[in-house]
Amino acid sequence: MGGRIHAEASNFEEWRNVSRELLARAALPEQVVWNEDQEVELNLGVEEKSKPPLPSSGPVRVSDEFVRRAKGVACHVDLDTWGLLYRMLWRMTRGEERQLLRRANDVDVRSFELKEKAVRRERHKMTAFVRFRKVEVTGEETERERFVAWYEPEHDVVYLAAPFFRDRFSSMDWSILTPRTCVHWDGRELSFSEGASFQERPDEDELEKYWLKYYASTFNPSRLNISMMEREMPRRYWKNLPEASLIAELSNGSYGRSEKMKAELEDNPKLQGRRPKGAPDGRERGVIRTSDEIRLRGEGLTLEALRDQAQLCRACPLHERATQVVFGEGPPEAKLMIVGEQPGDREDLAGHPFVGPSGEVLASAIGELGIDREAVYVTNAVKHFKWRPSGKIRLHQSPAPKEVHACKPWLVHELEQVHPRVVLCLGSTAAAAILGRPVSVTRERGLRDDPGLPYAVVVSYHPAYLLRIVDESERLRASQQFYADLEACKQFIDTM
Ligand code: URA
Repeated sequence: MGGRIHAEASNFEEWRNVSRELLARAALPEQVVWNEDQEVELNLGVEEKSKPPLPSSGPVRVSDEFVRRAKGVACHVDLDTWGLLYRMLWRMTRGEERQLLRRANDVDVRSFELKEKAVRRERHKMTAFVRFRKVEVTGEETERERFVAWYEPEHDVVYLAAPFFRDRFSSMDWSILTPRTCVHWDGRELSFSEGASFQERPDEDELEKYWLKYYASTFNPSRLNISMMEREMPRRYWKNLPEASLIAELSNGSYGRSEKMKAELEDNPKLQGRRPKGAPDGRERGVIRTSDEIRLRGEGLTLEALRDQAQLCRACPLHERATQVVFGEGPPEAKLMIVGEQPGDREDLAGHPFVGPSGEVLASAIGELGIDREAVYVTNAVKHFKWRPSGKIRLHQSPAPKEVHACKPWLVHELEQVHPRVVLCLGSTAAAAILGRPVSVTRERGLRDDPGLPYAVVVSYHPAYLLRIVDESERLRASQQFYADLEACKQFIDTM
C-alpha cells in the first residue's frame, strides 16, 4: 500500500526536509523506502493512509554532533544511506535513544561509522588526486586564469572537499567536474551544479607538461611502492593523473637509480652515521619543511603512508638530534588512542612508541585492566626525541609549544585515519595538543566533555611522572587516579 511523498533526497538538505515531513506523519522507518531515483515512498497501511497527516511536531531536536556527522555520511552513495539516516533520526527522537551515537555495538551506529570512514577517506583522496588543467576562456574579458579538473570520486564528496580547494586555490577560477556533482569557484563564492560527463573533461595542455616535469624531478625511486599507490587510488582512476603515464618509465629505471642514491650516501662521509636521513643541509629530496606541508602531503594517506612520509619531516629542528621519527602504532580501527608527549631515549633508538620505562608502566596498567594493547593505537604529540647531552647520557627535554604546534598535523592525520572513540592524553603536552589549549593535568584530570570533538577525551598523568614521585603515599594516590582514568577509557571501549 503506498503513499508517496513527492520528494527526492539527493543531498543532505533535501533529506532533512523530507525527514521532517516523515516524522510529522509519524512514519516508521520500515514504512519508508528510498527508491533508485532517490524518491521517497511511504508505504502506509490502509488505516494510516486514511488519516490526515499529523501536524508538524515542531522542531526536531537532535544533537549538533549527529547533524554534523550525518552531513558527511549523506555523501555515501549506497542506496541504503538515506534510510539508515532516517532510522537513526527516528530512533533518536524517541527520547530513550538520544545517546544512540555512543552505542558502538549498535548495528545502525556501526554502519553509520563505516560509511563515515569511507566518505572521509574519499574526501582525503580527492584533495590529493585532483589535477587541474588550464582552459582557454573565449569571449570573456578576464585577467584570471581558468582551470578545470575531471575527477571520479567513489562517493559524492564534492561538497565536503570544496572548501579545501577554495582555500588552496583562491586566486584562480576553477571547476571540478565529477559524474555526480560539479563545483565552481569564481574568486568570490563556491557554486555547485549537477554532474558532468567524461566527455566534458579538459584536454591535455601545457600545464600537464609542467606537472610531468615536476613529478619526474621529485620522483624518488627508492620510495616507489606500487601496491601502496594502488591502495590509495585504484588503477582505473590513474588515467586522470598525468604523472601516472610516467610511472612505468621512471620505475623501470627505479632499481638502478635507487642503488645509485644509496651508493652516493655511502660514499659521502658527511652523510654517514646512524640516521638514514640524507644531507643535513636541506638539499635532501622530498623533505617536508613546514607544518603546512605536513597538512598537504598527509591528506588522505593511510597510516602506513603517513609513517613513511613522516620520515621526511624537517618541520622543526628536533629531527637534527633524534635518531629517527617515532610514529604512532596500532590498528586503524582502534577505539582507543593513547597520546604521549614525545619518544624517550629508548623509543628513539627502537623506533617504536612507549617501549621504555614509561611504556612498561602503561603496558602493565593496560594489561591489569584487561585492555588489549594490540587493539590500541599509541602515539605521541611530538614524533622526534628532544634531548640534551649530559656526560654520556641523553637527557630528556620537554618539547616547546612551537615544536608541538609544528608536529600537530601528523597527529591530526592520525586522528582522521583512526577515528577513535576515546583519546587518552598522557600528560599536559599531549592534552594541550589534543584540546588545543594549555591544560593543567592536576586540575583537569579525567573525562573532559568537549562537544566540539568527535571523540571523548580523558586526561591523565604521564607514566614518567608516576615514576618520578618519591613520596610513597602520593605515588599510590596518583597511580590509583591513573588506573581510574584508564578504566574510564575502557568503559568507552566496552560500551560504545
Ligand atoms: N614518553 C612518551 O610520552 N612517549 C613515549 O613514546 C615514551 C615515553
